[in-house]
Amino acid sequence: MITARDGVYFELHSFPFCYCSIAIYFGSLPSFLYSLSTPLTTLDLTMDNKSAFWLYPFSISFTRAKHIGFVQSVVVLTLASALIVSPISSVSSFQLSAFGPSRKEVNILLKVIFCLKMEVNKEKYAADLSSIKEAHARISSFIHKTPVMTSESLDAISGRRLFFKCECFQKGGAFKFRGACNAIFSLDDQQAAKGVVTHSSGNHAAALALAAKLRGITAYVVIPKNAPECKVQNVLRYGGQIIWSEAPVQSREEIATKVLQETGAAFIHPYDDGRIISGQGTISLELLEQAPLIDTIIVPISGGGLMSGVALAAKSINPAIRILAAEPKGANDAAQSKAAGRIVTLPETNTVADGLRAFLGELTWPVVRDLVDDIITVDDMEIIDAMRLCYEILKVAVEPSGAIGLAAVLSDSFRSNPAWKDCNRIGIILSGGNLDLEVLWASFRK
Ligand SMILES: Cc1ncc(COP(=O)(O)O)c(C=O)c1O
Repeated sequence: MITARDGVYFELHSFPFCYCSIAIYFGSLPSFLYSLSTPLTTLDLTMDNKSAFWLYPFSISFTRAKHIGFVQSVVVLTLASALIVSPISSVSSFQLSAFGPSRKEVNILLKVIFCLKMEVNKEKYAADLSSIKEAHARISSFIHKTPVMTSESLDAISGRRLFFKCECFQKGGAFKFRGACNAIFSLDDQQAAKGVVTHSSGNHAAALALAAKLRGITAYVVIPKNAPECKVQNVLRYGGQIIWSEAPVQSREEIATKVLQETGAAFIHPYDDGRIISGQGTISLELLEQAPLIDTIIVPISGGGLMSGVALAAKSINPAIRILAAEPKGANDAAQSKAAGRIVTLPETNTVADGLRAFLGELTWPVVRDLVDDIITVDDMEIIDAMRLCYEILKVAVEPSGAIGLAAVLSDSFRSNPAWKDCNRIGIILSGGNLDLEVLWASFRK
């Protein structure tokens, strides 16, 4: 039975286990009335630890499945379970008091559940927090610890606090150097002596060439003919050996296999490789140290290597953190894969973000499926507008693929989605800055 006493205190009776007791206490009448006018997430929801432990796993799955807030799902599930059990049980009180788990306790509980989940899924994921920490130790003397920038103007435009992790300042101009460096410096001397092979539309290629140069070995790079000129120049600048392919991924893969057979070099996939995923995950180690209070990270997604590393590390450190992917509408295979529950590939892609045209792989898909809270798709105009804001306000040169996280935060689909209303402190990965500026330069000369 639910009773309202003086309009200020709700009690739900006949709940059998006192550790499952929960109720909603609104304090004074004015605060009760105020609470009615505010969304559920602002209610002072508390409970004793045991009931919290009992509810969290369900609440997490519920939150995922329904795209509703975590606190809302706790309330809904608690009330639903209480109502089901109450008619068949003896009298006890059901109350939500002012003394429940602190934010710290909630985080510890989430962490325990996440660790258990990671343990169950160990076989499924190609990297984990310890492989990411090992990667960091391996590469930290070679990489830049990129800065995190903020801008009050962009905060005002977006209505959130934004923390930009500037991987466009990474060596080679993109985050890709982290994974490439980790993969190359993981090889034993015998393997390394034969060189490395990869296929890439650009940033991974340049990163691998640079890492190979640092190790003193050869990088054979299969590049599609439609790759941006500046990315090709980067590969040449770092001494990579270019082998041309047609644009489709299949053509790149076939040619890479041929080179592999001829040279005996080690193949290093641009994203579907545990060493690459671990290297990219080092971004989260730095970001969460530089901006420890962020509640959300937005990550550009293509093959999913960046996303997998970032999500595995960030959720291991803070399981409550939200991980959102940003993807172009013209190459939305990841969004389609999430919706279908299996890897979906597209017959063709069409987007200005040349780094985001690949499809999820066998190793990256399980992480995207399990740890990515949502995928926000944006069109090319939104990407270009976000790029312009990066140049004009942040004074940072990003490429379209690098600006997509900002485009996602500013998009209507993100702003109007109630599930992301409480994403207040958002880390955005500006993943790369390799842009062909020839057209822009030509326009200045006129
Ligand atoms: C600048 C930039 N951002 C993001 C990505 C996406 O990375 P991933 O393929 O690991 O999802 C790429 C991939 O090439 C890239 O070059």
